[in-house]
Amino acid sequence: MKKNRRHFLQKISSLTGAIALSPIISNAQIPFEKTIEDKAHLSAEECAVDDEFWYQVRQQYTISSNIINLNSGGVSPQPKVVQDAVVRYNQLSNEIPSYYMWRVLDQGKEPLRKKLAELAGCSTEEIAINRNTSEALETIIFGLPLEAGDEVVLTEQDYPNMLHAWRQRAKRDGIVLKFISLKFPTEDQNDIVQQYVNAFTDKTKVAHVTHMINWVGQILPARAIADEAHKRGIEVIVDAAHSFAHIDFKISDLDCDYLGTSLHKWLCAPFGTGMLYIKKEKIKKIYPLFGAQEKLVNNIRKFESLGTRSIGAEQAIGQAIDFHNMIGIERKQKRLQYIKNYWAKEVSKLENITLLTSLDPKNACAIAAFSIKGKKPEKLSGLFFKKYKIHVVPIRIGNVFGVRVSPNVFTIKSELDQFIEAVKEIAKT
Ligand SMILES: Cc1ncc(COP(=O)(O)O)c(C=O)c1O
Repeated sequence: MKKNRRHFLQKISSLTGAIALSPIISNAQIPFEKTIEDKAHLSAEECAVDDEFWYQVRQQYTISSNIINLNSGGVSPQPKVVQDAVVRYNQLSNEIPSYYMWRVLDQGKEPLRKKLAELAGCSTEEIAINRNTSEALETIIFGLPLEAGDEVVLTEQDYPNMLHAWRQRAKRDGIVLKFISLKFPTEDQNDIVQQYVNAFTDKTKVAHVTHMINWVGQILPARAIADEAHKRGIEVIVDAAHSFAHIDFKISDLDCDYLGTSLHKWLCAPFGTGMLYIKKEKIKKIYPLFGAQEKLVNNIRKFESLGTRSIGAEQAIGQAIDFHNMIGIERKQKRLQYIKNYWAKEVSKLENITLLTSLDPKNACAIAAFSIKGKKPEKLSGLFFKKYKIHVVPIRIGNVFGVRVSPNVFTIKSELDQFIEAVKEIAKT
């Protein structure tokens, strides 16, 4: 491509803002495989700043050219290849649903499990495919054998669904919840480990750890917390809703006992797809949320008795993994860190702004949040959309008030420039 097309891209982007590119350059013109091949010589750091590469990634999606989406923390869009697979599988299923879904498409289930296990870095016998993080973690929260008086250590900033589930368990079974409260940003991860350790007692049975806090993107030192917990015979549940396929880790690196994630977040898989991990030797003692055959007692598949579900969506997880692997987690993480810091550094220089997220790649990646003195979060996010057509979300949780911003691999710098300008204008008023 090189010179001419680069020149063309630069010209268009400076004339009209690069968001105008998507209808002009279609992915049919430049096969994505070719882009990957052309850039194979770049290191992950070099690729992170190579906007031409990321323009091509953007072309693989069907996102709006007119509204800027900075809320991938909610749920991510799927690349076209994943959307197409869902449509194809659903059309096939609609010919004879019980035949094509259960006898044909479902043949792909075990190969998919293998692919997911490879991506996650664990055995196929430790992975159940389900619909989301809530389902995965509530399976553990409600399935763990705990008795009245047993203690669970968790944070006030864990995800509400999980807190609701733990509170329900406390009410029903008399278990005791010990909350710690995190400060954002925390630059020294040891402080977080120490807070968990201080809350552990002889009665603690479980530590609940949100690997990446959804409100502000703070990364928790899950492995170090797990090591301290295990020394005391405490089991560890990791909420990996935001860390999976976003930052570079394998489940084995964390040495947790249980983990749940949503594949429709950073993997960009179909909506309503998720994954549960349980360490092999723990499977037997966890009751599944939905009753399963007794012979499956020691089998991870006992957590998949969900009844009828969207097999098309489930099978298209495979295309999402292929797409994710084409970009590669190292390249993806470096790019996400780069674009997060691109806007966050600029915004943090402004008067009246408090950044609630660390700029250190060890402590955060794509998700970050900030507050503007005297401005209410809901009003602020409303203003971003109404005046600038930028989609961000308000956050209001305990001691944290602000706006959360979460770009993705399809976000281009001209969008972030528009966002920075909008923040400057709003902060001045
Ligand atoms: C940290 C965290 N855990 C769990 C969830 C729940 O995810 P889902 O709605 O896919 O179950 C979310 C959703 O945003 C989250 O941010």
